[in-house]
Amino acid sequence: MKQVYFTKSPDETRELASRIAGSTKLGTVFALDGNLGAGKTVFASGFARGLGITEAVSSPTFTIVQEYPFARGMFFHLDLYRIDTPDSALAFGIDEFLFAEDGISLIEWPERIRGLFPPGTIRITIDRTEQEETRRITVSDEAEDIASI
Ligand SMILES: Nc1ncnc2c1ncn2[C@@H]1O[C@H](COP(=O)(O)OP(=O)(O)OP(=O)(O)O)[C@@H](O)[C@H]1O
Ligand SMILES: [Mg+2]
Repeated sequence: MKQVYFTKSPDETRELASRIAGSTKLGTVFALDGNLGAGKTVFASGFARGLGITEAVSSPTFTIVQEYPFARGMFFHLDLYRIDTPDSALAFGIDEFLFAEDGISLIEWPERIRGLFPPGTIRITIDRTEQEETRRITVSDEAEDIASI
């Protein structure tokens, strides 16, 4: 299934992400795709809020992963910008986050680990539009969209 949303501000993106988070089962992996500054980390902060996490979410560009406990399990926010190859991701321990039964993973820069995403991954793509503050946000669990990351 593929759904397309338009958000007109960072707050609207957070609101959408928060709603998606509220209906997400443990064990779900999100590939959060989009260019530099598209709004991936804004989305992640709204997603965390939707899980009931009150801690501020910032970009884990240097730490690669930030882990946040919430009522039902763990939220893993990853930023793979600095990971060069799938092999270095495996060495880093990416499997723990791709197959985390007790948690939910949201992964920025998914193309860094092309080919490693498990079936059932949900791809979220954030695109800029002609309007400065409007984003097109596509949510897909279709196999061809995951395969093309
Ligand atoms: N509708 C919108 N949704 C999300 N962010 C928006 C929107 N409109 C404008 N913005 C702005 O776009 C920027 C998005 O920054 P953010 O750090 O979330 O991007 P990113 O995709 O995580 O970038 P990076 O690739 O550097 O990790 C913010 O400055 C935010 O205020
Ligand atoms: Mg980011």
